[in-house]
Amino acid sequence: MTNADTPTASSNGFHTVRVIHLATVAAIGGFLFGFDTAVINGAVTAMQSDFGMGGTLTGFVVSSALLGCMVGAYLAGRLADRIGRVRVMLLAAVMFTVSAIGSGLAFGPVDMIVWRVVGGLGVGAASVIAPAYIAEISPAEIRGRMGSLQQLAIVTGIFVALLSDFAIAGAAGGSGQVLGLGLEAWRWMFLTEVVAALAYGTLAATIPESPRYLVRIGQEGQARTVLSTILRTGVDTRIREIKRTITQEARASFADLKKPGGGLLPIVWIGIALSVFQQFVGINVIFYYSSLLWQSVGFTEEDALLQTVITSVTNIVVTLVAIALVDKIGRRLLLLIGSAGMTVSLGVMAVVFSQARIVDGAPDLTDSAGLTALVAANSFVVFFGATWGPVVWVLLGEMFNNTIRGTALGLAAAAQWLANFAVSTSFPDMADIGLWFAYGFYTLCAFLSLIFVVKFVPETKGVELEDMA
Ligand code: GLC
Repeated sequence: MTNADTPTASSNGFHTVRVIHLATVAAIGGFLFGFDTAVINGAVTAMQSDFGMGGTLTGFVVSSALLGCMVGAYLAGRLADRIGRVRVMLLAAVMFTVSAIGSGLAFGPVDMIVWRVVGGLGVGAASVIAPAYIAEISPAEIRGRMGSLQQLAIVTGIFVALLSDFAIAGAAGGSGQVLGLGLEAWRWMFLTEVVAALAYGTLAATIPESPRYLVRIGQEGQARTVLSTILRTGVDTRIREIKRTITQEARASFADLKKPGGGLLPIVWIGIALSVFQQFVGINVIFYYSSLLWQSVGFTEEDALLQTVITSVTNIVVTLVAIALVDKIGRRLLLLIGSAGMTVSLGVMAVVFSQARIVDGAPDLTDSAGLTALVAANSFVVFFGATWGPVVWVLLGEMFNNTIRGTALGLAAAAQWLANFAVSTSFPDMADIGLWFAYGFYTLCAFLSLIFVVKFVPETKGVELEDMA
């Protein structure tokens, strides 16, 4: 028996190593998603002064990428149903490469915005194509774990961007100092992304097209070939099942998502709501504004950076918890535990901030309150990272049927990017009212997410894509 044939505890009906290999390549798109969204943090201050930009323009340079992500997600979903999953990965790799080079060599704010949007299109595309592809090549028994690899890659990408920005700034003696070839350190921060983008493109070119997509476009023979490298038995049954679920009239357009009577299909609404809740609990405020948050509660700049590193590492480690549990206890239970834990930890933050004295317009916390806020914020990251972070991506990859998967997933992910944009651009204004207000709002959203899961989210653990109701 070769390594690839080693049975897993739950099943020996498939080639585990092969599945992990394919899922990992697709998940590298997640690494670029994380890296590209986080890399700008270390570059922004030096870029702002080099380009002589004000705060509003700088904010727009940063947030414009999120709008690119939204468009990229929506278009990539439809495109994936038309030209295939792998070609969309290749397109995303091209966009990452172009954006990294463009951003690194940008002349000023205007072309910078263009390059950030191009990168955003890549991120949006990657955010859709990884869950779709992974769900489609994975046997039901391990689909949750394989899907969670995307989140593992996202949070690793966020962490590596943080480290790489830090190392580059350190080597140059400051992010505004020249490092090599006459280019300032902040430019090199963007340029390093080229390496990951090329690796992603090269590896994506070596993996086969998804069997579900191949059947959908009538290439049954090829689908059979691909499936037989994944499944040891049951290839014919699987092909028959996939064919049963394909409606040939699908146009890969918005119209496919509508009910006969008009309006979106309920499952599409559930996907959109999952996406919006995942963002409205405020996770990215922790990532995008961490130094502002921690400095405002009295941390020094170094301590704030250290805290950011701790948060990122925590987020990586707890993803492993999700990987261990998602195919055992299921998606619903994980989401419920996550919602409950996030409600409590966010609620504690809201209460702590509401008790703070305001000194010079910023909350001034006592030592014990500061410590409570720190523990609560990290508990929030633990609950999110072990549940809603990975599980929403897993569900979005598997909850839609074979006919609408790309298009529906693209729409739900676009909603997620829009929600991300809304939360991250509204945070400074909400924080002006008071951090208690911002965190009170996220607490409310976390609580509503609990009710939403109880009422609407179906369990998909262990169910083949073709057997979803
Ligand atoms: C999820 C979210 C993403 C967030 C990340 C952080 O992937 O979709 O917006 O940045 O988790 O853990």
